Amino acid sequence: MLQEKPLLTVLGGGKTKRVPFWFMRQAGRYLPEYRALRKNAGSFLDLVYTPDFAVDVTLQPIRRFAMDAAILFSDILVIPHALGQKVAFEEGRGPVLEALDPAAPLKGLNAADIHETLSPVYETLKGVSAELPEGVALIGFAGAPWTVATYMVEGGSSADHAKTKSWAYGDPEGFQTLIDILVDASVEYLLAQIDAGAEVIQLFDTWAGSLPEPAQRRWCIEPVKEITSRLRQAHPEIPIIAFPRGAGPLYVDYAVETGVNCMGIDTSLPARWAAENIQPIAGVQGNLDPRLLVVGGEAMKSEARAILEALKGGVHIFNLGHGITPETPPEHVEELSDLLRSWTSDE
Ligand code: CP3
Repeated sequence: MLQEKPLLTVLGGGKTKRVPFWFMRQAGRYLPEYRALRKNAGSFLDLVYTPDFAVDVTLQPIRRFAMDAAILFSDILVIPHALGQKVAFEEGRGPVLEALDPAAPLKGLNAADIHETLSPVYETLKGVSAELPEGVALIGFAGAPWTVATYMVEGGSSADHAKTKSWAYGDPEGFQTLIDILVDASVEYLLAQIDAGAEVIQLFDTWAGSLPEPAQRRWCIEPVKEITSRLRQAHPEIPIIAFPRGAGPLYVDYAVETGVNCMGIDTSLPARWAAENIQPIAGVQGNLDPRLLVVGGEAMKSEARAILEALKGGVHIFNLGHGITPETPPEHVEELSDLLRSWTSDE
């Protein structure tokens, strides 16, 4: 008999002895073995598009900490890159894209064309599947359309998403064209990931919270609902996790309307609020402040226990409220992983 995968069991509504866990951005610069490989690979995109390297990086955190899931090593910005936009990751500057011009028609962005560029990512998933330790689930992912659009329109990271919001508010029909392309490309990309071995899908909507209510419904909830329903047409059982960072009380509407299996909650959402308002509708994943992982010790452990206690009455996957930061000491990740493996509720 195959050993069960606790993450999949919990997402299917089943019970496990302990709470499954993984950490957003668990592969990355806080690991010396990542920094060494990154140096040899050349650019970040070379690392992502070289399956031998990407398989290794995906498995690096699993070898050290034995999380319940590996997450594909890639980035949400490979979609704009595969659609033909110039994308580079510059040391110390983050991603730099050749910004889209909202005034120019969106010529040449064709969702069906992405596979040529992205085929190495599918090879990575096949490679990881073949090497995955027993009991560990494989998570594929994409950025949600609104979040990816902000990088495409701003030309990189931005504090206020001024250009993207101006386009969405001022010319909703034109902006819808971009969102539709991103929905189509995400569905294409995620279906190929599932075919290559992804067992769970996470949609990162990192900038959902920058939109007020009606706009967040239209540009975050609606596209994610569409992606979810199209993935489920082909794969009715595929578990989907959404992470609409900063959505606040709209987390509830996001869960109800998209119908995803689980909501990744950010650091600002009280775990008790999530237990009352989200767990009756969907699973909850989260939400330790990644800064506590930098600090470590009792400050980190007592907060981790409080989150476990608050969410023990329903489906819970332990995670951070945002990604691991580069200055995190790997020993703290070890300390937290040990706590999570030994914690059992006293109920
Ligand atoms: O370990 C994992 O979680 C898997 C790989 C992964 C990366 N990026 C690798 C990466 C995942 C799931 C992402 C998601 C991602 N990428 C998001 C959503 C999650 C979030 O953090 O909000 C976003 C917004 C991006 C876009 C992005 N990629 C930015 C803004 C940056 C620069 C900032 C930074 O942390 O460097 C990246 C680069 C990036 N993506 C790195 C890694 C390991 C660092 C690149 C390097 O090695 O220099």
